[in-house]
Amino acid sequence: MSVTNFTGGASSASTDNSLPKVTMPVLAEMKRQGKPICALTAYDYATSRLADEAGIDLILVGDSLAMVVLGHENTLAVTMDEMLHHTRAARRGVRRALLVADMPFGSYHGTVGEGVSNAIRFVKEAGAEAVKIEGARVELARALSEAEIPVVGHLGLTPQSIHRMGGYRVQGRSAETVLALKANAQALADAGAGALVLEGVPREVAAAITAELPIPTIGIGAGPDCDGQILVFHDLLNLTFAPPAKFVRRYGDAAALIRGAVEHYREDVEHRAFPSDEESYHLAPAVRQALETPVKTEKLRKA
Ligand code: KIV
Repeated sequence: MSVTNFTGGASSASTDNSLPKVTMPVLAEMKRQGKPICALTAYDYATSRLADEAGIDLILVGDSLAMVVLGHENTLAVTMDEMLHHTRAARRGVRRALLVADMPFGSYHGTVGEGVSNAIRFVKEAGAEAVKIEGARVELARALSEAEIPVVGHLGLTPQSIHRMGGYRVQGRSAETVLALKANAQALADAGAGALVLEGVPREVAAAITAELPIPTIGIGAGPDCDGQILVFHDLLNLTFAPPAKFVRRYGDAAALIRGAVEHYREDVEHRAFPSDEESYHLAPAVRQALETPVKTEKLRKA
């Protein structure tokens, strides 16, 4: 931000009070009313603020941060400290949406107690309103709910299980795995999870789970019958430097916009076309005149 631009900043983030603040009970009510839940990831102040102002209901500081922001090959490397840092930044841009922090790999794979302690850090130190955990960690979901921390479950293609799954593969293709997915979804809901992300599962499976489950499902690569949808911000805007997955729809080309703008800026600097006189500060005429008149300058120096 230009140091001379004093507008904006955290204190003036979206203040549109016409829409109610989204909470976990609001998501449940949206499911009851059949109102689609629109979710998106965001990882910093600017993008979370834009998403919030655009009316997104749930903003997830996803561990996809590892890949799309930090450039790692998969999501496994991102740390608690990095996730906390980005959740704090996103927090400053969000007013209306429910802010959910993704618990990174390793932060809840030991004891339930460790998982609860790390989840508390997201609420206490970063302002998250819920945490997301991957897999059928039913005991942890129950312990988090008992600790007053709203939980979003995540089943199907769970990227933190990449090594066990042998790659990013659609899950729930056989009758046996469909039954297991359904049972796990129900167990998470029974343990107190307030919503469930379903990733990379056949449409029919997501539809059946959505119909059976009392809590909202939010799909990504799970077809249109979920209670809501989520996409990764960078996928939506062509900022991922890779061919998109089948389920991604690109709604804009930020890569082209940024590349074009930056190249234009470089060319202008190289041709001395930036900055212009209008973009420069000027001395007051009297000061300029004084500096241009040798006698006056001499007097000024002595004074
Ligand atoms: O980390 C992430 O972005 C996610 C979404 C894909 C649901 O978990």
